[in-house]
Amino acid sequence: MVRKAPRKPRLRSVSHGSLPKRTAHTYVLPAGDPLEGLVLDAASVMPLKKVFADGGRGVWLYQGNCLEVMDALSQRFPEGVADMVFADPPYFLSNGGITCHAGRIVKVDKGAWDRSRGPELNHEFNRAWLERCQRILKPNGTIWVSGTHHVIFSVGFAMQQLGMKILNDIAWEKPNPPPNLSCRYFTHATETIIWAAKGEKAKHVFNYELMREIAGNRQMKSVWRILPPENGEKAFGKHPTQKPVAIVERCILASTRPGDLVLDPFLGGGTTAVAALHAGRKCVGIELEEEYLRMSKSRIVAEGKQVRATLF
Ligand SMILES: C[S@@+](CC[C@H](N)C(=O)[O-])C[C@H]1O[C@@H](n2cnc3c(N)ncnc32)[C@H](O)[C@@H]1O
Repeated sequence: MVRKAPRKPRLRSVSHGSLPKRTAHTYVLPAGDPLEGLVLDAASVMPLKKVFADGGRGVWLYQGNCLEVMDALSQRFPEGVADMVFADPPYFLSNGGITCHAGRIVKVDKGAWDRSRGPELNHEFNRAWLERCQRILKPNGTIWVSGTHHVIFSVGFAMQQLGMKILNDIAWEKPNPPPNLSCRYFTHATETIIWAAKGEKAKHVFNYELMREIAGNRQMKSVWRILPPENGEKAFGKHPTQKPVAIVERCILASTRPGDLVLDPFLGGGTTAVAALHAGRKCVGIELEEEYLRMSKSRIVAEGKQVRATLF
């Protein structure tokens, strides 16, 4: 099989991720929606609803509970179906604390989905969704999980319990974090992203040369200094924990091949789908909340228009 040479990245000096310029992609057309006609268990709490499909670009969005959807997916594809998972799960930090937003003191309340149920139940939940991600990954597939200290240690422990192979822990350094109002702690300026393979024997993909090129012809370090989402990324609404496209795009470019399938069980405002489009990969996104799916859909449609405008 002839493997395509990686696209030449456009090297930018800004700290927004120095990612390749977006161009038209010549990747293999997607074979189809892996969730098409999927029937959930009769005892499912939430019906599965397809809210967006673009077979041409390979993007499918579903409203549903990711635990139930991944159960059904692993029954359909017992050998695995996704080449990569990007998961930004609930952080369990909306518990009455305060933070600083746009110069004002505000309560930390990102939504009911982000409330903590105590360390044991939170860990049980983390293990439950990670176990399902592991099942739906192809044998050499990898998973990236982002989180703050509220959740990331439980995620790392669950990965070890499940026999995943931890490959790296990336420190996402935020150049301009909100100040710490209490003046009793250091300013929280990083989030962690754990990168792990499905199992110890997995032969994971790492596009070393491309990462090296993006890092300015040096080995890329595990500290990524990347700005928060740009204003343009919030043009269709804001998700309270929206990730910058640059981060997810880098994860995808590092660990998948053109045309591969990326699955996000906690899609939120659609960042992973947009990043997958930029990188020329397929994407299945699952999200509980209709409001966030609407936002995701608008972002994906707008991406299509932008690419068409560059092409013609
Ligand atoms: C941390 S946010 C993800 C933000 C996303 N990375 C972005 O950039 O917009 C987690 C999301 O998971 C969703 N969620 C929580 N539990 C879920 C579940 N069981 N199934 C599917 N989605 C869920 C929440 O509604 C929330 O939008």
